[in-house]
Amino acid sequence: MVKNNIIILGIESSCDDTSASILKNEAILSNVVAGQEVHERYGGVVPELASRAHQQNILPVVDTAIKKAGIQLNDIDAIAFTNGPGLLGSLLVGTSFAKALSLGLQIPMVTVNHMHGHVLAHFIDEEGKSKPNFPFLCLTVSGGHTQIVLVKDYLDMEVIGTTRDDAAGEAFDKTAKLLGLPYPGGPLIDKNAQLGNPNAFAFTKPTLPDFEYSFSGLKTNVLQFLQRNTKKDKDFVKNNMNDICASLQKTIIDILFDKLLLAAAAYNIKEIAIAGGVSANSGLRKRLAEEGIKNQWKTHIPKFEYCTDNAAMIAIAGRYRYLSGKLADQRVVANARLKI
Ligand code: KG4
Ligand code: ZN
Repeated sequence: MVKNNIIILGIESSCDDTSASILKNEAILSNVVAGQEVHERYGGVVPELASRAHQQNILPVVDTAIKKAGIQLNDIDAIAFTNGPGLLGSLLVGTSFAKALSLGLQIPMVTVNHMHGHVLAHFIDEEGKSKPNFPFLCLTVSGGHTQIVLVKDYLDMEVIGTTRDDAAGEAFDKTAKLLGLPYPGGPLIDKNAQLGNPNAFAFTKPTLPDFEYSFSGLKTNVLQFLQRNTKKDKDFVKNNMNDICASLQKTIIDILFDKLLLAAAAYNIKEIAIAGGVSANSGLRKRLAEEGIKNQWKTHIPKFEYCTDNAAMIAIAGRYRYLSGKLADQRVVANARLKI
C-alpha cells in the first residue's frame, strides 16, 4: 500500500553542481545547490576538479537539505539520484553516496536520468503554475543537450530531435568565450543582450532536415566575424558588446524555435514546455510566451531555480519511478552516456 506522504531525498552530481533536495509528495521542502567556482578560470568544466569538489560538497549539501526541510534522516522513504548522463567521475560521487546511504538507512533507491529530471521539473508544486498535460513537447536545452522531447507520460519520453554537434548551452558558452567573457557565458550574454539591439548583426543559421540542430557552424561564423571586425577596429568587441550579445542570442533562439515550431505542427501538439539551463534565458522565455499567444499553445516555463541543474528535479522524477516500483539495487552503476 502506498503511504499518504512520501518523502524523497534527491541527489544530483552529473556536472559541476552538487545538489540535494527533499520532496514531500510533489512539494519541495528544500533544494540546496553548491556550485563550483574552480572551473571559471579554465573557461569550462574540468572533470577531475569537478569530481573532487563533489566529494567535498556532497555530505554538507545533503545534511543542509535535510536540516532546511526540518526532517530527520529516518523520515526519508527513498533516495533518488542521477546515474547519467554526465561526467563519469561526477556521477560516481552521487551514485556511491546514494548506494551507501540506502544501505545504511535500509531504504530503497531509484536511479534518475538527468534529462528526465529537467523535463519532470514541471511537475513540482508551484503556486499559480499549472502542470503540463500529456502529451506535450519539451525543448530541453542545457550545457550538454539540445533535445525536442515528446513527453507521453512521466516515464515515457521520446527524443524526436537533437543536435549533431554542440548543445545550445555550448553555443552560448563558446561564443561568450570568444568575446572574452568568463565561464559559463550563457547568463552573461543574456545580461548584455538585454541592453543591445538584436538586429545589429546577422549570423548564419544551419539548414538541416526534420528536427535536427547544429551549433558548431555558428561558433566558426562568430570567430570569423570577430577576426574580420577587430582587424578594422581593435576595440570592436568592447564597443559593441551588447549588440553582439543581443544578435547572437536572437540567432540561437531563432534556430531553436524554427525546429520547435515545425515539431509542434508535425505532431499537432499545442502544449509546449522548455527546460534545462538555457531555459533560464530571458529571451527564450519571452519568445515562448509570444509563440504561445500566436499559436494558441499552452506554455510551461520553469521557475529559475529549476532550470539549471538542481536536485529538486531529480527528486520529483525519482518519485514517479518509486511509485511505479522501478527500484535500483546495489549493483547499479553510473552511465555517462545514458539515453532518455
Ligand atoms: O542544465 P544546466 O545547468 O547543466 C547541464 O546539464 O548542462 O545548463 C547549463 C547551461 C550552460 O551552458 C549555461 O551557460 C546555460 O545553461 N545557461 C544560460 C543561462 N543560464 C544558464 N544560457 C543562456 N542564458 C541564461 N540565462
Ligand atoms: Zn542539466
